[in-house]
Amino acid sequence: MDELLSKSNLHYRDLARAIAEKFVRPVAAELDRTGEYPWTVIKALQEQNLMGIWIPKDYGGAGAGLLDLCLMCEEISRACGGIGCTYVVNALGSFPIILGGTEEQKKKYLPEIASGNKLIAFALSEKDAGSDAGSLRTTAEKAGDEYVLNGDKKWTTNGAAASLYTAFASVNRERGTRGVTGFIVERETPGFEVGKREDLMGIRCVPVNETHFKNCRIPASQLLGGAEGRGFKHAMMTLDVARPFVAAQGLGIAQGALDLALEYTKQRQQFGQSIASFQGIQFMLADMATQVEAARHLVYTVARAVDAGVKDFSKLSAMCKVFATDTAMKVATDAVQLFGGYGFCRDYPIEKFMRDAKITQIYEGTNQIQRMVIGRALIKETASV
Ligand code: CAA
Repeated sequence: MDELLSKSNLHYRDLARAIAEKFVRPVAAELDRTGEYPWTVIKALQEQNLMGIWIPKDYGGAGAGLLDLCLMCEEISRACGGIGCTYVVNALGSFPIILGGTEEQKKKYLPEIASGNKLIAFALSEKDAGSDAGSLRTTAEKAGDEYVLNGDKKWTTNGAAASLYTAFASVNRERGTRGVTGFIVERETPGFEVGKREDLMGIRCVPVNETHFKNCRIPASQLLGGAEGRGFKHAMMTLDVARPFVAAQGLGIAQGALDLALEYTKQRQQFGQSIASFQGIQFMLADMATQVEAARHLVYTVARAVDAGVKDFSKLSAMCKVFATDTAMKVATDAVQLFGGYGFCRDYPIEKFMRDAKITQIYEGTNQIQRMVIGRALIKETASV
């Protein structure tokens, strides 16, 4: 339904679709096997000035809206969920600076991200602080005009590819979430290390690493927003903006799986006819297509609401993340079913969609956490009723 999209939306969607077909789809299976990073795709995106479209124009970006970014992520993920992730995780890493950075920090770091010369990752989670992000143990101690960081981060997505990180540490663990403080970390900083790479089920071209701080001295000028104790809010505000683009990643994976299932069931012959001619298969395809369309409308509506300046969108953001990523898993699993035994083989592209879909229900807050955010919001909204 192109009629519902603006000129800008269509511009980004079409550019992303062209890049997905020319650069992403041809390498998706190979990178899934080798785990290599999609540098050719990043370069193609960079050449078209698409790497930092979400960054405001004042800081070298295109000032594009959240819906534009969702469309980009959807189209890339339609060809490869992993490559969709390598692109969009830069937005996750840079939103803490956009939303909470000082003017100097924005001027210093955002243009390099917008140009694609530097990739940025988001380091919040730890081994024992996943869903309970506020219980993180990495510490930051003030020493003159520096902070000394110690601790270990887990699940730093794009960890080994990035050269900048927005990382969260506590300046006072007794203060709980109010002690959490954000830092902008440059990769070359002594005491910062990119560690073990996880061996993942899906999105295998994405380096997801442990990252470590060992007496790592960060200049106070890189304290996010120039103030201690605001990190948890900056991280939560970032996740509110980021969840719609993970939803868009799920949407793209679901659409990509549906595309392949349709193509396959139309050409696969059994009992002397294409299996798509059987009503049982048509019903499955119809349900898959309806679920994808419903997810699309929810994701686009939430992104449009954010672009229109709606405040307090945590609930909406969580809703679209839950719905679109559960849809991705359901549709990709059904698509594998439609491929029968071939769906279970790596010779065919469909099983990768099922593996890639799974992470979208887990990262950027598990879908159980999203339901918690939605439930809490419902109770709060109706507290005075
Ligand atoms: N925006 C602004 N502030 C917020 C907020 C939001 N959305 N949500 C909470 N806060 C504030 C609260 O107002 C509160 O502030 P005060 O101290 O002033 O009262 C403070 O933060 C603490 O809030 P809660 O008591 O609600 O916090 P909580 O400890 O109960 O946690 C949670 C809430 C929603 C469960 C949160 O911990 C959460 O989202 N957990 C999931 C973490 C997550 O998504 N991790 C993913 C990491 S990134 C990743 O996986 C992806 C990747 O690398 C690609």
